[in-house]
Amino acid sequence: MDELLAKLHRTNCLTKDEIVELLGGLTPEGRKTLYRFADETRQAHYGKDVFMRGLIEFSNICKQDCLYCGLRRSNGGVDRYRLTEDEILACTDEGYALGYRSFVLQSGEDFRFTEEVLSGIVRRIKERYPDVAITLSVGERSEDFYRALHEAGADRYLLRHETASRSLYDSLHPGMSYDNRIECLHTLKRIGYQVGAGFMVGLPGQTPEHLAEDLLFLHELQPEMIGIGPFIPHSSTPLAGAAGGTVEDTLVMVALARLFVPAAMLPATTAMGTLDPVGREKALKAGANVVMPILSPLAVREKYALYENKICTGDESAHCRHCIEMRIVASGYRINLGRGDHVAFREETDPAVNFA
Ligand code: 5AD
Repeated sequence: MDELLAKLHRTNCLTKDEIVELLGGLTPEGRKTLYRFADETRQAHYGKDVFMRGLIEFSNICKQDCLYCGLRRSNGGVDRYRLTEDEILACTDEGYALGYRSFVLQSGEDFRFTEEVLSGIVRRIKERYPDVAITLSVGERSEDFYRALHEAGADRYLLRHETASRSLYDSLHPGMSYDNRIECLHTLKRIGYQVGAGFMVGLPGQTPEHLAEDLLFLHELQPEMIGIGPFIPHSSTPLAGAAGGTVEDTLVMVALARLFVPAAMLPATTAMGTLDPVGREKALKAGANVVMPILSPLAVREKYALYENKICTGDESAHCRHCIEMRIVASGYRINLGRGDHVAFREETDPAVNFA
């Protein structure tokens, strides 16, 4: 076991069989070593900095029907909403005043937000705040759409691959195509976005072999960002009775992702903080280096329920910022409110380059 960990630390890769062996044989001691290696690796690339992104959930309307997601179109119990352009701009105003220079615009696959509408929003944000980075997370779209939005000023794109196993993917995503999803990720990379992939841990039917495939997929794609969180069953979905993922299992995957893609931007996800009050702090200590506090208007926060009991839905954005910053500093890390580009995308003028 120690040998496998040492090899991973040294080479940043293992074979599928080795990953499965590692996952099957990790002792509490082995986990500690793994988290330490991951923390050291993140330190080597990003120091003690934790990068802050303000998350704006601007529509919970979705045409997809993913079995695990509370926002799936078959869930008639969701109070659907769309923010107006001005409401979205107001979120960025509030975030900018709070110090954020990195915004994530996320929604369900809501095609009312067309290329024209979204390009207009991105341009307006960039005109008002030329020094911010904009990340989009609006699902599978055409290459033309991705290009137009990149030209409008979107810097990054999040599209979790969800699982790198075709059979598991097909069982969870009725009417969707695994090949198309992977193709979207390659297209986004080719266009020049900083790209985020990622997956859930603890999906029904997910085996150590599947998780090994996720790591090898990430190693091959080399995304700039990797979102990993526990699957949390939602009571109004077909997976209501499933077991869901654990914090410990997710931490292991976060640490492994750090070692397989050493310079990735890796968020300590809200789902981790939902399962465990200090889940995000634990993720930071296991190699994560990004936190995404919610900036959406209070009136809609509860409605963006991918899963239930999501944290921070009742807190003002300013409160969220102070709460999470306190936690980050108490864990021994440093707040970075800059654009937070991946190391390979940084410009010399970015103050984030200058570590103390
Ligand atoms: N539990 C945890 N994560 C979920 N997501 C969707 N539904 C759930 C759930 N029930 C994740 C998916 C998606 C991201 C925005 O949220 O991985 O890509």
